Amino acid sequence: MDIDAILKELTLEEKASLCSGEDFWHTKAIERLGIPSIMVSDGPHGLRKNVENAENPNTAIKAVCFPSACALACSFDRELVGEMGKALGEQCQAEEVSVILGPGCNIKRSPLCGRNFEYFSEDPYLASQMAIAHIKGVQSKGVGTSLKHFAANNQESRRMSIEEIIDERTLHEIYLAAFEQTIKQAKPWTVMCSYNKINGVYSSQNKHLLTDILRSDWGFEGLVVSDWGAVDDRVKGIKAGLDLEMPSSMGKNDKYIVKAVNSGELDENELDKCVRKILELIQKSVQSKTEMTWDKERHHALAEKLSLRSAVLLKNDDKLLPLDKSAKIAFIGAFAEQPRYQGGGSSHINSFKTVSALEAVEGNENITYARGFNLEKDESDLVLEEEAVKAAKNADCVVIFAGLPEAFESEGYDRTHMCLPSYQLELIDKLCEVNENIAVVLHNGSPVELPFDDKVKAILEMYLGGQAVGSAEVKLLFGEENPSGKLAETFPEKLEDNPSYLNFPGDDNTVRYAEGIFVGYRYYEKKKIAVCYAFGHGLSYTDFEYSDMKVSDYEISETDTVTVQVTVTNTGSRDGAEVVQLYIAPKQASVMRPIKELKGFERVYLKAGESRRIVFRLDKSAFAYYSEKIHDFYSESGEYTISLSSSSADERLSADVHFNASKPLPIRFTLDSLGGDVQAIPEGKAMLEELLKSIGVNMTGNDERLDGDEIEIALKMLLDMPLHTMVSFSKTKEITREKMQQFVDKLNEKFG
Ligand code: BGC
Repeated sequence: MDIDAILKELTLEEKASLCSGEDFWHTKAIERLGIPSIMVSDGPHGLRKNVENAENPNTAIKAVCFPSACALACSFDRELVGEMGKALGEQCQAEEVSVILGPGCNIKRSPLCGRNFEYFSEDPYLASQMAIAHIKGVQSKGVGTSLKHFAANNQESRRMSIEEIIDERTLHEIYLAAFEQTIKQAKPWTVMCSYNKINGVYSSQNKHLLTDILRSDWGFEGLVVSDWGAVDDRVKGIKAGLDLEMPSSMGKNDKYIVKAVNSGELDENELDKCVRKILELIQKSVQSKTEMTWDKERHHALAEKLSLRSAVLLKNDDKLLPLDKSAKIAFIGAFAEQPRYQGGGSSHINSFKTVSALEAVEGNENITYARGFNLEKDESDLVLEEEAVKAAKNADCVVIFAGLPEAFESEGYDRTHMCLPSYQLELIDKLCEVNENIAVVLHNGSPVELPFDDKVKAILEMYLGGQAVGSAEVKLLFGEENPSGKLAETFPEKLEDNPSYLNFPGDDNTVRYAEGIFVGYRYYEKKKIAVCYAFGHGLSYTDFEYSDMKVSDYEISETDTVTVQVTVTNTGSRDGAEVVQLYIAPKQASVMRPIKELKGFERVYLKAGESRRIVFRLDKSAFAYYSEKIHDFYSESGEYTISLSSSSADERLSADVHFNASKPLPIRFTLDSLGGDVQAIPEGKAMLEELLKSIGVNMTGNDERLDGDEIEIALKMLLDMPLHTMVSFSKTKEITREKMQQFVDKLNEKFG
């Protein structure tokens, strides 16, 4: 395909028509020019390819449902998530799907977001690492991805119209950061814009977002596709950099595009830019097509492996788990029979098979089962409860399979509370009265309140663990496998503790991100709010010790890459994996910053007794915050603590380093600048001191020249005073507005 030649051949009408899909899942073909149509399908944790001409238009082919992103992220396992990506890529090649829609790397602002299960984390670094692995895996098979939903799609309530008010620093440091890193490092073929508005503009027509940031600042070269139905004004969209509208506009928007070009409102070159991107995507997918088959059972086994690695052992008092195989065990709760393993909406996979925990223990005579509750009804069933209590009384230990029923969380709406259904909580209470050895296995896409946390001995969080979740559960419960997942989000004690609580999902059509950068653990730590389970927490059946931390350089400059090394030893008696987390904490900062932030992690599998040296590499970006003064990230000089931790609440080793910025934040000084801004730069402070000495500015009213302590006092008083006030406060005629302006000019010459 010679794209330049085709662009010359295409009529204006043909160009306009290419700018939206042929139907729900295909781009348009233009036969006379040999432009084929390509197919896209959802994602992200399985292939949801629609069966063509099926009676029900939503029928998808049989495929494999891998664990959802909420679970996957807890694995902290770049390699295995990459394997899943490769498996998805193979399925797409075999099924002739050119682009699989996903992954989503939106930040979990509130636990209530109905679509949290499709997102990775409350932390941008972790979210980006998972998205990068996913995308690289898929794309290594010659299949494209669509990183979504760009940007700040953090709630489902009024998701298609909500107006989000987000300040610049928060947007870049939290909500865009995961996209930025993923786009730069994984180069997704496409990016899907979100439905919502950010600061007054729909993402689908937001030039600042789709062109200035995405393409100019981050260097994105792929195609931008709308979320399905996210287009409001198609012409504005083209001007903003939205290449492809999906699904088909059925020609409705073509005529606006043609009219806008004819009237001069839209430069045809801008239209050509979009058409070029569409042709490039088609060309890339045609060139990447290969014959491929996929092995359902192999992918099912991969789904189980992912579920095993994603499960988080939240608590395990008295080492209740792993269960003793010879004990009498009662499995209680309908989720043992019908596990909830995926969320609702566009990511819903038609699994070719599923395994429940009950199926996985078939034939084991030590296990009895009582359903305990009905998933079909949102109410207690006394007969089932009685049966469950009886089973619990007769057992040595009880495993309760609890969780959120399907209707509680889905794409399209948010949860209204963070509780498990009351009939499950009541049942758990009743069972705790008759048996003290209780483990709870959870199935949910987002945190739930855990009022029974003190009453049960063990909690195993499976999230939405994919179609093989049941066999994974059994392997973990009986110790055939060792849990190693770590929470990718905080479990607050209660919903009201969450930083977005007062501003979620917003009033009328507006939501204010008033908590700013303090999302998830960044907030709980800063406010010293006790949480139920901390970000990064997860237990194991073995123990790990950290030793011998070494930092290659304790004085770090902007161009350095520092290595941080540590030895991790499995000191227990079982093989297992540990996720070592690296956090960076500024000891002081000129702006409000979180206590610490995740800047690295490594997952390491160790046989019992085995040790391994782990190496992290850090550059200046690990110390940075987003400065609105320079509209960019800035790493400030100062002391920082690097900690190596087993969870955000379990620091094992730490070291202090000093980071040296090559230059201070470039500031444009004016007469309105504060004395403090000047004093923030040591040389600036010296200049101000000189000025004070020479002119005798006196805050106390007497006319004497200042020296010694008085200068110190004057400098302190000036911290919060604009420079121009020195003119009025000075009792000497020497200090004039002109003189102060000269001082400002001098400052700008030196530091601006
Ligand atoms: C969802 C997208 C999805 C698309 C196609 C939209 O409603 O937000 O995530 O890829 O539908 O199904």
